[in-house]
This record gives sequence, C-alpha cells and structure tokens, in this order.
Amino acid sequence: MASVAAITRALLSKNVINTGRFAAASNTSLIKFYSTAPEYENIKVDIVGAKKNVGLIQLNRPKALNALCNALFKELGKVVIDFDADEKISAIVITGNEKAFAAGADIKEMQNNNYSSNAKIGFLKEWEDISNCGKPIIAAVNGFALGGGCELAMLCDIIYAGEKAKFGQPEINIGTIPGAGGTQRLPRYVGKSKAMEIVLTGNFIDALEAEKMGLVSRVFPVEKLLEETIKLAERIGTHSPLIVKLAKQSVNQAYETTLKSGLQYEKSIFYGTFATEDRKEGMSAFVEKRPPNFKNN
Ligand code: CAA
Repeated sequence: MASVAAITRALLSKNVINTGRFAAASNTSLIKFYSTAPEYENIKVDIVGAKKNVGLIQLNRPKALNALCNALFKELGKVVIDFDADEKISAIVITGNEKAFAAGADIKEMQNNNYSSNAKIGFLKEWEDISNCGKPIIAAVNGFALGGGCELAMLCDIIYAGEKAKFGQPEINIGTIPGAGGTQRLPRYVGKSKAMEIVLTGNFIDALEAEKMGLVSRVFPVEKLLEETIKLAERIGTHSPLIVKLAKQSVNQAYETTLKSGLQYEKSIFYGTFATEDRKEGMSAFVEKRPPNFKNN
C-alpha cells in the first residue's frame, strides 16, 4: 500500500484535494489540513513547508481534548513510520489544537483494563513507534499537554509551546502513575525535585515555567506557534538528512549511558561522518564559500 505521504503528494500535485478546510484553532490558522487519508479518523496529516519537506500531524479528537486512544496512537505510529521512510520528508511536526495538545491517555478507554490485559497486549507499546523514529520530531504544544500528552511531547526531540500551554502529569489524581515515560523522561528534562513535585502533586505548570525548567525550548504567542515550529523543521531540513539522523542519535545517547561511554559513542559517530559524502561536501562548500549540496549519503 502506498504511504500516506506518497498519497498526499500525488493528490496535491493533481489538485484533487483542494477541498481541505482551515483548521478551526487559531494556532493552525495559516495551515490547511487536507483530508488526505480517509483511513485516519483521529489525526490529520499534511506535508508543508516551502520545499514540501515537513510532515505535519495534527491530533484530531477535539471533543475529547485529543485524549490518546489506542486507535489514535496506531494511526500516529503508522504515519510517523511512513514519514520516517519517506526520503522527501526532513522533519516531522506533531501538534494539537488551541485547547489541547493532548489531555492524556484515554481514561474512558482504559478504565476497565486490568493488569493481565495490559501485560498481555503490551498496553501503550505503539508509543515506541515515535521514539524509534530516526528523523527529528518537534512537538508544537498549545493548551493542555497532560499525562500521556506531556509524555508524547517528551517523546519528541524538541518542544515548542504556545504561551497558554499547560503541562502536567496528573495521573496521581486518578490513582495511577505516568506510564509512557513521565517518571523517567521528566526528571531528565527538569531534574528530580521538580519532576517529583509535578508527578506527586499532579499540578500543572505553564509554558513559561516549562521553558525555565528546560522542558520547552521556546515559547511563542499562540497564533505564531505552528508557523514558528514549521520554520524550525524547515531550518533542520536545510542540513544533510544523514548527518541530522546521526546527530539525533548521538544526543539521544546522552540519555542512555554514562558520560564516558556517551563521549565514546559521540566520537565514533563523529569519526563516522568522515566516511560520508555529505561531510565531504559540507566542508568543501565551507572552504569554497558556497552553499552545500547535500545528497543524504
Ligand atoms: N481521557 C478521556 N477523555 C478525556 C480526557 C482523557 N484523558 N481528558 C478530557 N477528556 C474528555 C472529558 O471527559 C470531556 O468529555 P465529555 O464532554 O464527554 O464529558 C471532554 O474531554 C472535555 O473535558 P472537560 O469537560 O473535563 O474539560 P475541562 O476544560 O473542564 O478540563 C482538563 C480540562 C483539566 C484537561 C480535564 O479534562 C482533565 O483533567 N482531563 C484528564 C487529564 C488527565 O488526568 N490526564 C492523564 C490521563 S492518564 C495517562 O495519560 C496515563 C499515561 O501516562 C499514559
């Protein structure tokens, strides 16, 4: 079956899907989301950017504040895998709407789960499709990013936020704990004391606090957020896709290992870039005072 990206591109080039509607939320007011793939009920997918090299995914269960039901996550995982495999896509943006990035895993759906059913099906295993992606993923967070919503943002590589965003891990309020990385990734972002406070109280933090803590890298006015996030994705897309992938791997290694073995890992990747055409091209272009022409090789 053709990938969603391929279908989108084919339809766009034929102008078949110019019936797309403007997303209602103001943060997406300049972006048309096309109903490209009828099989997706819980997300909208588009390819944006001047070079059409940014894969854009909007979580789309507005009535449930984008609660992350299983069907949504299956769709999200599939599109991320498709974008990762699509050579024309340089980076991926995941966003929600003005009220919610995502208010967490779907409480109504998991209400009757039990230990055995979770363990048997590997509940939430689809989330690994996001963390396994080789390409950069940027979260553009407006509104609530709570529980699994905050965890989804943290699965991304960079978090940009609108100034009214609210982050939190309120699972404690409903008698459980974060189950998709909140107790592990949050302390790595913000340190133990703040992570403990957030996880043990269930309190929300606003965008500026989140930026101050290092959870969010930048905060923008609500209506500018998506535009600025796409600009960031496009900026990343000017570089060699191969070297971007290696750089992402190397930064991620910092979360997996000791400083000493992380530095060794970085060195081996750094040396490895010298076996690539893109490294040769990048340095030649610098010396010859011209823009580089990367070939992903
Ligand atoms: N799951 C399912 N439905 C949800 C939901 C969730 N996580 N969050 C919101 N909704 C639904 C509400 O039930 C409501 O639906 P109905 O209209 O059918 O009643 C609709 O979205 C709108 O929500 P509210 O009326 O509650 O909106 P509000 O503006 O008054 O409050 C809120 C917003 C503070 C975010 C509140 O909805 C809330 O507290 N949501 C739950 C947040 C939460 O606990 N998240 C953690 C989930 S567990 C988890 O994520 C585990 C994990 O680690 C993977």
